[in-house]
Amino acid sequence: MAELKVLIPREEIAKRVSELAAQITQDFAGQSVIFVGVLKGAAIFLSDLARQVKLDATFDFIGVSSYGNRPTPQKELQNGWDSTGEVKLTKDVDQSMQGKNVIVVEDILDTGLTLTYLKKLLLAHQPRSLKIAALLDKPSRRKLPLEGDYVGFKIPDEFVVGYGLDYAEKYRNLADVCIVPRE
Ligand code: IMP
Ligand code: MG
Repeated sequence: MAELKVLIPREEIAKRVSELAAQITQDFAGQSVIFVGVLKGAAIFLSDLARQVKLDATFDFIGVSSYGNRPTPQKELQNGWDSTGEVKLTKDVDQSMQGKNVIVVEDILDTGLTLTYLKKLLLAHQPRSLKIAALLDKPSRRKLPLEGDYVGFKIPDEFVVGYGLDYAEKYRNLADVCIVPRE
């Protein structure tokens, strides 16, 4: 595979994550929050974000996978991966969300199918509030109208890896967000 190209260097990520944490701290002053990380891509973002939020906070994790014929990694890179929107829950939250301030933490907001599904699912728990934090946003790929409440960076339609994001499960541990060239 051709070399990865840095799109967002680690220093910029750190700065933006601090800003998002400050915003969350301010928005929920005097209250507690539950961060619900979407496995596995959000693990690194959640860990950096949550440690800078100066609030009484707990963690939970939710796992999802999409039905349909997932293309090979190479095809996914070329054409993106458009699931049918039918999402399968592989791990539910462990604690009650009722009456709580829930912040769903996701690596990237792409077509919006996953988060639309998760939002509906979590709203059924009757939380006090439900917000979405996404490190990255590819607005040009959206199929369902959904906006993140705390968005790190809007990016063009490129396939990116690092800081939790994978290509066939690889590169999650890269410190920078990098573009996988489509040639
Ligand atoms: P969607 O918003 O339902 O289309 O899906 C979002 C999910 O697609 C994310 O949680 C990622 O797992 C995956 N995804 C979308 N774009 C990328 C990318 O550029 N790199 C790696 N994973 C991606
Ligand atoms: Mg993924």
